[in-house]
Amino acid sequence: MKIRIPRDASARALGAEEVVTALQAEAARRGIDLTITRTGSRGMVWLEPLVEVETPEGRQAFGPMTPEAVAQVFDGGPLALGLTEELPWMKAQTRLTFARVGVIDPLSLAEYRAHGGLEGLSRALTMSGADICAEVLASGLRGRGGAGFPTGIKWKTVHDAEGAQKYIVTNADEGDSATFADRMLMEGDPFTLIEGMAIAGLAVGATKGFIYSRSEYPDANEVLDAAIRIGRAEGLLGENILGSGRAFDIELRVGAGAYVCGEETALLNSLEGKRGTVRAKPPLPALKGFMGRPTVVNNVISLASVPVILARGAEHYAAFGIGRSKGTIPLQIAGNVKYGGLYEIAFGLTLDEIVNQIGGGTLSGRPVKAVQVGGPLGAWMPVSQFDTPFGYEEYAGKNALIGHAGLTVADDTVDMLEMARFAMEFCAIESCGKCTPCRIGAVRGVETIERIGRGDSAAIPLLTDLCETMKAGSLCALGGFTPYPVLSALTHFPDDFTANAKEAAE
Ligand code: NAI
Ligand code: SF4
Repeated sequence: MKIRIPRDASARALGAEEVVTALQAEAARRGIDLTITRTGSRGMVWLEPLVEVETPEGRQAFGPMTPEAVAQVFDGGPLALGLTEELPWMKAQTRLTFARVGVIDPLSLAEYRAHGGLEGLSRALTMSGADICAEVLASGLRGRGGAGFPTGIKWKTVHDAEGAQKYIVTNADEGDSATFADRMLMEGDPFTLIEGMAIAGLAVGATKGFIYSRSEYPDANEVLDAAIRIGRAEGLLGENILGSGRAFDIELRVGAGAYVCGEETALLNSLEGKRGTVRAKPPLPALKGFMGRPTVVNNVISLASVPVILARGAEHYAAFGIGRSKGTIPLQIAGNVKYGGLYEIAFGLTLDEIVNQIGGGTLSGRPVKAVQVGGPLGAWMPVSQFDTPFGYEEYAGKNALIGHAGLTVADDTVDMLEMARFAMEFCAIESCGKCTPCRIGAVRGVETIERIGRGDSAAIPLLTDLCETMKAGSLCALGGFTPYPVLSALTHFPDDFTANAKEAAE
């Protein structure tokens, strides 16, 4: 009997190791020869640990499994869910970047190849660097870390830059709340990231890459470390990349927990062994990045989307999505939601579809009040904006951002003044201290929101003024974007900011 169980951190947190032990014991008791392969997660976190049994018809899903219920894997029962691929959550997705996550053994290059891995790199090896950049540009791929800058233009800038040594840096410092796409990809299909980095290296003429990961991701780091070693041993990395004579190698570096090191210039400082503070731009990292050399800095998902673009062609990728938001986006649905997890789909879904249909509404069963899209720097979207299609320009038009596509759902018990205070406090704690609007402004912001909370409504204009100063005067997105959650909370839920003032007046 062949069984697959995720080794993903979310599955492990929910008891996957105990389920493995119980399954082995149950199989031994029944005299069944059992082979267990560990995989990434399919993204259905509410079903973890998800056990899949390989059958001629496909993989049969059982979950959420417990050590006490493992007999059901052999005898059937209420935890038997049918074919994994036929589950509504799986069936409606368009899995391009995450096609192999949860399916293959993350450290088996043979399984990786058998599921379409290395087709993109093989094609890239037949193309010129300029043509690879053009292909990525034509695909419409934009930076999935949050800013949405066209990846092809960034690569072309580095391609055209003068420099004997160029670098590819993966930003895997996934610090936003409600985001876990980078982690799931790195744990579940690390060769896709490695392949994407190697293609980027061929495109711009870089022979060296770094993955800047985070100490909070020990499982991902372990998998990446092993994948890099396997990649070197099997010719995917090193001096003779897949027999072509072209060279590319990767080093894994692990940050120490500062949110701001997810900002690309602070990341580069940290990578160079310096304190993780933000550098002024220009110069752009594309021209003067790691050690002052031309450097591509891309998010994990941006780079991991490149192999499928090269394998299937730019047109195939660009056919998905809406407007200038092409291709697919791995939504990370979290917070107070019934069905949380990772859902890859073409751009264009509304929040109503994402939260109420896919996510099944709140876990508490109470009405949804708002959803914060794009992490701690993202705006709160009220139910009245739930018809907004998921896309970069569509969200910008609503004074919001899609960011890294993490969504935090809140029900009607959540106090939005408290959420605004939290955003300012987060900024105050994580500020690198380089510029005044953020370093001082965030501290004053917390104080001002607390004043408003005590009933001093006259301080509301002061708060909006402060937010405008932070927006206009901050050096990076941390100080510049913290006003988004604050102002959206104030604009859409003014009653939460005046409740105590009204109470005092009565
Ligand atoms: P940005 O708009 O300054 O730059 C975007 C990217 O394009 C950068 O890599 C920049 O170097 C590059 N770029 C800009 N012009 C270029 C040109 N002419 N040629 C080549 N490259 C060029 O945005 P930034 O500050 O890098 O990122 C802000 C975003 O980060 C926010 O939207 C936020 O959503 C997101 N973010 C994501 C987090 C995460 O955990 N993934 C955490 C915090 C923020
Ligand atoms: Fe540092 Fe904040 Fe200024 Fe960014 S906005 S450079 S985090 S002080």
